[in-house]
Amino acid sequence: MCGIFAYLNNLTPKKRAEILELLVNGLKRLEYRGYDSAGVAVDAANSKDIAIIKKTGKVALLEEAIKNKSNELDMDDIVDVHCGIAHTRWATHGVPSEVNCHPHRSDEGNGFVVVHNGIITNYKEVKVFLEKKGFCFESETDTEVIAKLISHFYQQHPNFSFRELVESVVQQLEGAFALCFKSKYFPGECVATRRGSPLLVGIKTVTRLATDHVPILYGKDADTNSDFRPHGRADYPTLPRTGSTSEFEPLEDKQVEYFFASDASAIIEHTNRVIYFEDDDVAAVKNGRLSIHRLRRGGDDPHKREIHTLKMELQQIMKGSYDYFMQKEIFEQPDSVVNTMRGRVNFETKSVTLGGIKDYIPEIKRCRRLMLIGCGTSYHSAIATRQLLEELTELPVMVELASDFLDRTTPVFRDDVCFFISQSGETADTLMALRYCKQRGALIVGITNTVGSSICRESHCGVHINAGPEIGVASTKAYTSQFISLVMFALVMSEDRLSMKQRREEIIEGLKNLQSQIREVLKLDNEVRTLAEDLYKKKSLLIMGRGFNFATCLEGALKVKELTYMHSEGIMAGELKHGPLALIDESMPVMMIIMKDPVYTKCMNALQQVTARDGKPIIICQEGDQETMAFGHKSLQVPKTVDCLQGVLTVIPMQLLSFHIAVLKGCNVDCPRNLAKSVTVE
Ligand code: F6R
Repeated sequence: MCGIFAYLNNLTPKKRAEILELLVNGLKRLEYRGYDSAGVAVDAANSKDIAIIKKTGKVALLEEAIKNKSNELDMDDIVDVHCGIAHTRWATHGVPSEVNCHPHRSDEGNGFVVVHNGIITNYKEVKVFLEKKGFCFESETDTEVIAKLISHFYQQHPNFSFRELVESVVQQLEGAFALCFKSKYFPGECVATRRGSPLLVGIKTVTRLATDHVPILYGKDADTNSDFRPHGRADYPTLPRTGSTSEFEPLEDKQVEYFFASDASAIIEHTNRVIYFEDDDVAAVKNGRLSIHRLRRGGDDPHKREIHTLKMELQQIMKGSYDYFMQKEIFEQPDSVVNTMRGRVNFETKSVTLGGIKDYIPEIKRCRRLMLIGCGTSYHSAIATRQLLEELTELPVMVELASDFLDRTTPVFRDDVCFFISQSGETADTLMALRYCKQRGALIVGITNTVGSSICRESHCGVHINAGPEIGVASTKAYTSQFISLVMFALVMSEDRLSMKQRREEIIEGLKNLQSQIREVLKLDNEVRTLAEDLYKKKSLLIMGRGFNFATCLEGALKVKELTYMHSEGIMAGELKHGPLALIDESMPVMMIIMKDPVYTKCMNALQQVTARDGKPIIICQEGDQETMAFGHKSLQVPKTVDCLQGVLTVIPMQLLSFHIAVLKGCNVDCPRNLAKSVTVE
C-alpha cells in the first residue's frame, strides 16, 4: 500500500536541500509499500507558497525531478521551522499518472495539501457535494476530496485551528486512511490522523525526552455549523470546538524534529523513539509541540500514548552485501528462525514457553476450535502447521483466508480461539476479520512480525515472530518464522500430555537442528540457479506435493507468480487424477516434493502417474534418497528433519528458484509489478 512520510523541524536549522533529501530518503525506505509514483510538498523558496513535485514511477525519478527544480526552490536557504510531506503510491483509484500522484491539493494556490494511505469509500458522495459548492477536481483519486473538503471547511470556519479543520474533515470520511496535512495558512504546522491504516511519529530531540508518554486531549461535543451531512444521520459526530484547545507540551527541548511515517523503517535512521497512533487519534504539531486529540473518551482508552523505544537497527533495513532485499532475507533464515525461538525453546529441558500467550493457555485448552486466519503467505503458514496443530492439540482447526472468511460471515463463538497471522500486522482483510471475531467474543491471538502494528495492538495476546524487518515485497523469512511460531504453540498446548512426550521431544530436537540444516539448503543456491536457467522461458510451472509439504507447493507457486509473472500452481498430489493430470505432457514443467514421510508411497504413486504421461518431474527429496531420484528428470536434495518441520526446508529451494527466475527474466525482485508489501485496503 502507499507509504506516507512527513517531516517537521522546529528550531533545528536545515537547508531546504537537506529537508528534501530527508523526505526522499524516507520515501525510499517506504517504497516497498508502493512504487507507482511519488511526490513531495515543501514550502517554496519565499516560504509563502507550497511547492509540489510529483513523478510517476519510482522514488529515484522523483529525486531527479527535484534536482531539476533546484533553482526555483533555493536549496541553500536555511529553514528553522518547516513541514514537508511526502508519499509513495500504490494506485487504487486512478491510473499511475502524474495528476493522480500525491500530495493532492485544495486549489491551484496549494492552500492545503495532503498525502493519504488507504481508501475513502464515500468519496463519490463527498465529491458530488463539493462539486455543487464549485470545487473542480483534477484527478481521478479518492484522496483529492480530502484536500478540497478541508478547504471548504476553512472557508466556512476561518477561525478554526488546523487541527480542528482536520477533525471536521475526518468526521465526514468513511473507509480507511492515514493522512498528513500541510497548509500555507498554517506554516510550520503538521496535522496527521489515521483510521484503519498505520501511522506513527518518531520524535528526535537534542536532549533526553522529559516524558515517556503524551496524554490525550479530549473534545467536548458541541454544535457544528457544518453543512455537510452526506448521510443525514442524526447521530453524526460533532466538531470539538471546546475543551481540547489547551496545548500539551510534552518535551522540554524546543529543538525537536518530528517524523510521521507509515512504518518505523522510514524513521529508524533518525530516532528510535516513536508513538504509534490509534484509530481516530488526531496528532497536531504547532510551535514544536505535539498534541494528540480524540473526539471523546472511550471505555478502555488508556488516556495517553506511550513513547516506545524501537529495537530495530538501521543495518536490518539495509541490503548489506546482497543485491536484493529478498535475497538477503532468504539468506537470513538460519538466524531469523533462531530469533523466533530465542528465549522460548529450552533445548535442555525440552520445554517451550510463549510469554505473550502463557496466561491464556488454560482458556485456549478449553476452546471449541482453533481458527487460523491470514492472507497470502501468512495463510500458507497456517496450512503448513494445521496438521501438527490437529495432532498435538486434538482440537478442530479451521484455516481461513481472511477475505473469504469475511465474505461468508462465518459463524464465530465466544469459545473460539482465533489466530491472526500477518507479517505486517496491518493487512486490512486480516484486521477486519480480527475485529469481526472480537465483536463475537472470541479470544484473539496475533502472530505478527511488526511490534506495535494494528493486529498486535488489537489482539488479546500473541506471539511476535521476531524475524526482523522484511523489506522485499515477497515474504520469505516471515513465512518460516510464522511456521515455527505455530509449531511452538502446538508444543506448548501439548506439554502436559504424557502420550505426546516422545513426539514433542523429536520436534524440539528438529527445531534445534534447523539452523544448520537451513544453511545446508542454502548451499543449493548455484544448483537452483542452473535449474532456473532451464525454466525461466517456460510459460507455466506446476508444483505438487501432499501432507506436510502441500503448503510448500502453494507457497512456491505464489512466489513464482508474484516475482516472475509466470503462471504457477500448487497442486495437492492427491487431487492429480481429479483434473490436473490432464495438464501433464513432455513439455509441461513439473516439480514434485517427495519426502520419506507418512505420505511417501502416495507421492510415489503421483510420481508414476506423471512419468507415465511423459512428464519430466524435478524432484525435491531427502538427501541420499536414490530410490526417488531415479524417477526424476532432475532433483534437489534437502536434509531430512522431522516430518512436521520438513516444510521449512523444502520451501527454501522454492524461494531461491523464484528469485533466480525473476533475476533471469529481468523482473524487479524487490518490487514486483502491481503489488505492495502491506495491503491496508480490502
Ligand atoms: C507474498 C506476500 C503476500 C502477503 C499477504 C499478507 O509473498 O507477501 O501474500 O503474505 O499480503 O501480508 P501480511 O502477512 O503482512 O498480512
